Amino acid sequence: MTRIAVYPGSFDPPTRGHTDLVHRTLALADTVIVAITSNSTKEPLFSVDERLSMLRVAVGEAPRVQFDAFDGLLVDFCRRNGATLIIRGLRAVSDFEYEFQMAMMNRHLMPGLETAFLVPPEDATYLSSSLVREVARYGGSVDGLVHPVVAEALARRFRK
Ligand code: PNS
Repeated sequence: MTRIAVYPGSFDPPTRGHTDLVHRTLALADTVIVAITSNSTKEPLFSVDERLSMLRVAVGEAPRVQFDAFDGLLVDFCRRNGATLIIRGLRAVSDFEYEFQMAMMNRHLMPGLETAFLVPPEDATYLSSSLVREVARYGGSVDGLVHPVVAEALARRFRK
């Protein structure tokens, strides 16, 4: 049986923590679909297409990784793609409540769809897309926190 995992998120922008998790997921699944939600209530900094292309470059050559975007419910995207596993990153206790609620709701909506939580590398536990956006917005360095193409895209966006 082929195990397909979906790693969903806003990825606005993708960080080193995200790309690390994509590679870790390959140990648990045959195929990983990195799925950008396009129906976020948040006003995104980057378009879905910009985020998709940044993710492709940041993840690099990985034949078992696919990239896609979806609107609507995550469980419907998983159903359409034959996925049986959702991957989410868990950085700190503060992430837990939201993640737990989502996992339970997704299980309610699609019994049999499992959620697995993976932890990022120790030196990325403080890393989030929103902090990266804020640091870049005010001219701080995001080197080492995101792939160079993401750092360049942030610099271009905030130079405007
Ligand atoms: O990176 P984020 O913003 O924390 O990702 C949140 C995401 C995209 C996983 C979540 O908002 C989501 O699944 N959205 C799709 C709509 C949906 O299925 N909502 C119910 C989730 S229980």
